[in-house]
Amino acid sequence: MVDLAPGTRTGSVLVDNIGELVTNDPTIGDGPLGIVRDAALLVRDGVVEYAGPRIALQAGEANGRIDAAGAAVIPGFVDSHGHLVFAGDRAEEFAARMAGEPYSAGGIASTVAATRAATDDQLAVGMARLVREAALSGTTTSESKSGYGLSVEDEARSLQVASRYVEEVTFLGAHVVPAEYRDAVDAYVALVTGPMLDACAPHARWIDVFCDRGAFDGDQAREILRAGMARGLKPRIHANQLQHGPGVQIAVEVGAASADHVTHASDDDIEALASSDTVATLLPGAEFSTRAVYPDARRMIDAGVTVALAADCNPGSSYTTNIPFCIAVAVRDMRMTPSEALWSATAGGARALRRTDVGHLGIGARGDLVLLDAPSHLHLAYRPGVPLVRSVFRAGARVR
Ligand code: NIG
Ligand code: FE
Repeated sequence: MVDLAPGTRTGSVLVDNIGELVTNDPTIGDGPLGIVRDAALLVRDGVVEYAGPRIALQAGEANGRIDAAGAAVIPGFVDSHGHLVFAGDRAEEFAARMAGEPYSAGGIASTVAATRAATDDQLAVGMARLVREAALSGTTTSESKSGYGLSVEDEARSLQVASRYVEEVTFLGAHVVPAEYRDAVDAYVALVTGPMLDACAPHARWIDVFCDRGAFDGDQAREILRAGMARGLKPRIHANQLQHGPGVQIAVEVGAASADHVTHASDDDIEALASSDTVATLLPGAEFSTRAVYPDARRMIDAGVTVALAADCNPGSSYTTNIPFCIAVAVRDMRMTPSEALWSATAGGARALRRTDVGHLGIGARGDLVLLDAPSHLHLAYRPGVPLVRSVFRAGARVR
């Protein structure tokens, strides 16, 4: 099994001759992306020590030098929403959907059956593959939820597997009600907020609930999030993916770091998000793969909402780990500018995880960066589907 736990590189790496350096730090460069042209970046012992014009650096200041040859360097992507612990796939369901079947939360049950039947090692191998795949396309911080176990034992072991491969782990025992509790939904909520939470809280930082048609209603979502918060977990929520509901308002009410999906949003929802610390995490892969209407990112950004972009990698509604793909779709179909989309997939993701050490390349940030095979970040959306990620570094250690 591949162990993807990142090493922090000791020593230093100098990336020189950068045509366009995106720092996401407006104190270093131009605009919200903090862009510096003809730039250099020095990472020492895993942390950014210098980001700025080339001229400021002395030759020989670093023991590893990379010549970017005029290409662009951006912060590593922060993918704040994934469901990476599962077995099997649902390619047939996807094909049926493309032939006209609707998406429903019910499909989750088939992944639950496959996940319960898998060994820990099988789950770990599948997750390692996805985390590796994400890293190869530039993702340097990943989040993963549980949610395909839906029993005390299967949720706890899902989280233990997730903790081996990603740094942000979320307990999603409230993904859907499993078949054996179909006629006893209250009993399942009691299980999630009682014994399941007891077994899972030690292995997670976050608690999530799918508040939507076919999953949990607003009262249940509140109860589940509050129970998790009482155990020290921080809240986030799947809100308004399939239809409009109370999810966004609950997110703001409980102080969630993020309301995710937000495909259906009222003016009140957008106003509530704009006047809160809750990020709207938009997941274009899900609308793409379920052929649904995209969330209106333009309307949210114009109203002052902080928007993150994430892949939502899962076998049902969005089986992709590829953030450049999500950026291209967000620009094309959600009316984001290429610069906004890049910010949302880096700094926005970091905000959605309440992280200040990643998502930017300011001084002191973790040395997570992507060297593109392109002169500017605009190419991520301008050249959809083209593999533009040349090299990836995480904490100064090369992962690609
Ligand atoms: O984020 N919305 C709920 N959960 C996943 C889909 C899960 C599945 O279909 O397996 C999502 O899209
Ligand atoms: Fe999701």
